[in-house]
Amino acid sequence: MYKSKIIGLGKYVPENVVTNDDLTKYMDTNDAWIRERTGIEERRWAVPGDGNTAATMGVKAAKIALERAGLTPKDIDFIVFATLSPDYYFPGSGVQVQDLLGCETIGALDIRNQCSGFVYALTTADQFIKTGMYKNILVIGSELQSTGLDLSTRGRGVGVIFGDGAGAVILTRSYDESGILSNHIHSEGKYAKELTVQVPGGPNPPNKLVEDWDPENLTYYPYMNGNFVFKHAVTRFPEAIMEGLQANNLTPADIDLLIPHQANLRISQFVQRKLQMKDEQIMNNIQKYGNTTAASIPIALTEAWEQGRIKRGDLVVTAAFGSGFTWGSNIIRF
Ligand code: UT7
Repeated sequence: MYKSKIIGLGKYVPENVVTNDDLTKYMDTNDAWIRERTGIEERRWAVPGDGNTAATMGVKAAKIALERAGLTPKDIDFIVFATLSPDYYFPGSGVQVQDLLGCETIGALDIRNQCSGFVYALTTADQFIKTGMYKNILVIGSELQSTGLDLSTRGRGVGVIFGDGAGAVILTRSYDESGILSNHIHSEGKYAKELTVQVPGGPNPPNKLVEDWDPENLTYYPYMNGNFVFKHAVTRFPEAIMEGLQANNLTPADIDLLIPHQANLRISQFVQRKLQMKDEQIMNNIQKYGNTTAASIPIALTEAWEQGRIKRGDLVVTAAFGSGFTWGSNIIRF
């Protein structure tokens, strides 16, 4: 069995900054509520005509990651793309990346695991390298969420949280001590409807939406049972981290940097307290980007690396929880 390691990191966020005050143009909300409940101060939203989509932002992040890895698109053997906001209902965005980047006709796989999408994507890519099937894999998390939100007061519990952006990593075969030590993924589908977009779907196809148009039927917007999701998140995040640490005979004190999915600053602070971790052991950047779902971990990982917070030999742990419910962690030695 081989081991895989990260050799390139990149991120891209749209230029357009949307502050909490900007949101008051659309809905009854305020900066104090959003900061206090979520920690978010601003987020990036694409604007019509700027060309940003899940696929194109993913490509921008991937180009940076490739350059930092010293590789070209022709060196990539496989693409794993995590998103809940693909350009098309089908096909997935991975195939667009294959084309836009100019890769060979390699395989491209989309992962539909929302907030834990990147943890699942990294886990998946790791398996292909472990078996020796592929050597270099491009793993992307990318979201264009701003175009799918209910920006009226009705949707304010969800609309203020989400942001756009992309992050990418290059995973390659490791010949030394560094690499992914283990992955841990879970799901509990009985809670699928607590955080969901129901339309379009098999039982709710777009033509039904057009034929039975009802402005009060909001199943085409994201729905989140916020309190319920919050309560599960603060249990599952620590569980996933501890499961990964125990599998490697490690403790929270051994973590050099925890990269939690940026769901809510209050969730990250709760996890930090529960695991008795110091401020310098945890990465938070939700303040600037909001919750970018599958993109949040690779964006935070890249930003931490750019800030010099990740050095060779460091123990980096990712963890996520979200729609599905799904959750998990990756334990990585840099
Ligand atoms: O990333 C995927 C996983 N997602 C998460 O982990 C998110 C988990 N949930 C949360 O982060 C929080 O539940 C939210 C941030 C979504 C909401 O915070 P909350 O403290 O649970 O607020 P709430 O939904 O209980 O709402 C409290 C009040 C309500 O008013 P009343 O009924 O008490 O009068 C809401 O109508 O705040 C109101 N409210 C708002 N007020 C101003 C809801 N959204 C807003 C808003 N601005 N944007």
